[in-house]
Amino acid sequence: MVPFYDPMRTYEDNDAHGPFGGFREPSPYVCAGSPCAEFLGHAVNRPFGIPAGPLLNAAFCEAAFRTGYDVNVYKTVRTRARQAHPFPNTLAVHLDGPLTVERSRLPVVADNDFRHVTSITNSLGVPSRDPDEWQPDMASAVLAAGRGQLLVGSFQGTRDDEAVGDRESAYIADHVRAATLVAETGARVLELNLSCPNEGAADLLCFDTPMVVKVADAVKNAVGDLPVVLKLAYFVEDPPLAQLVAATRDIVQGYAAVNTISATVVRPDGRQALPGEGRDVGGVCGAAIAWAGLEMVGRLAALRDRGRHDFSIIGVGGVRSQEDYAAMRHAGADVVMSATGAMFDPLLGVRIQGAAEGARSR
Ligand SMILES: Cc1cc2nc3c(=O)[nH]c(=O)nc-3n(C[C@H](O)[C@H](O)[C@H](O)COP(=O)(O)O)c2cc1C
Repeated sequence: MVPFYDPMRTYEDNDAHGPFGGFREPSPYVCAGSPCAEFLGHAVNRPFGIPAGPLLNAAFCEAAFRTGYDVNVYKTVRTRARQAHPFPNTLAVHLDGPLTVERSRLPVVADNDFRHVTSITNSLGVPSRDPDEWQPDMASAVLAAGRGQLLVGSFQGTRDDEAVGDRESAYIADHVRAATLVAETGARVLELNLSCPNEGAADLLCFDTPMVVKVADAVKNAVGDLPVVLKLAYFVEDPPLAQLVAATRDIVQGYAAVNTISATVVRPDGRQALPGEGRDVGGVCGAAIAWAGLEMVGRLAALRDRGRHDFSIIGVGGVRSQEDYAAMRHAGADVVMSATGAMFDPLLGVRIQGAAEGARSR
């Protein structure tokens, strides 16, 4: 089936003309029965959807809701317009097995052969339109959610390396402004992306607990009762993850894991696959990182159970089947999401709707 985000087109082309493929056709999904789950105070038909990334705008979100995805995230936005990295942005990754931490230290081979794709690399640079454009569009996406459906608004802060004065305060203030702008659209859950490369920082924001606390605290003070979820990368060690959760669990309402795992991406002939400086490394997602998503959900659930806490968990990473969905739910995910799997198999949502709900009940 043709993917709904077409990797053979530029980001701008997808944004202007998408979605494509299965999201263009009449949906076989019929919402039957009543909501079967609850997520952050909202009844949802089925706790399954698409995470931040492939749903570029309201047209994509509307198509996702119509096609059996009930909890969907509008692609991460910023407080100012930002261009996508040059084309290509998405390539098929060819790996024999999982992209373990050890394997990610070696190059992975990628090309345009999407025929049997299960994993991809994506390198977009977290593009954003200007708030004047994305705010009304996100508001339309919020309204596209039907009964038992929910739109989550994802955002991140942008560093201003030219800024004079206190750059840290400016960075925190930018997060607050982004959160406030998203809240104004009517989105009922916010997701703070801490796990995409943050403007040249060597490390991801989620690995800097003191800074995350400052940002999350400021954001939460600004948005009041609106639930905030932190989007995390893969944590190799347990103690830093436990530390982050201990420091933020009374500020935010949940965690989403996992984002992509980075690796050097080369063409079959060994040349850099993604053009441009700094793009020798790309984020890998799909089947190759399923182990990481499942493991992170299990570790977050163990922290929740051990401390008798009540935060929510969004399970993301390599979900491509009913079995993957069930495994995530069994591991403790309140909501399960699929980016790569859904992109290349747009009717996955319909199949999950038909899956037996063998899962977590709280
Ligand atoms: C095309 C594409 C764009 C993405 N953009 C974002 C983004 O803007 N913000 C974010 O938090 N995650 C982004 N992601 C990461 C996904 O939300 C998800 O964490 C990751 O792809 C793992 O899930 P998967 O294995 O189902 O693809 C993107 C993923 C894809 C495939």
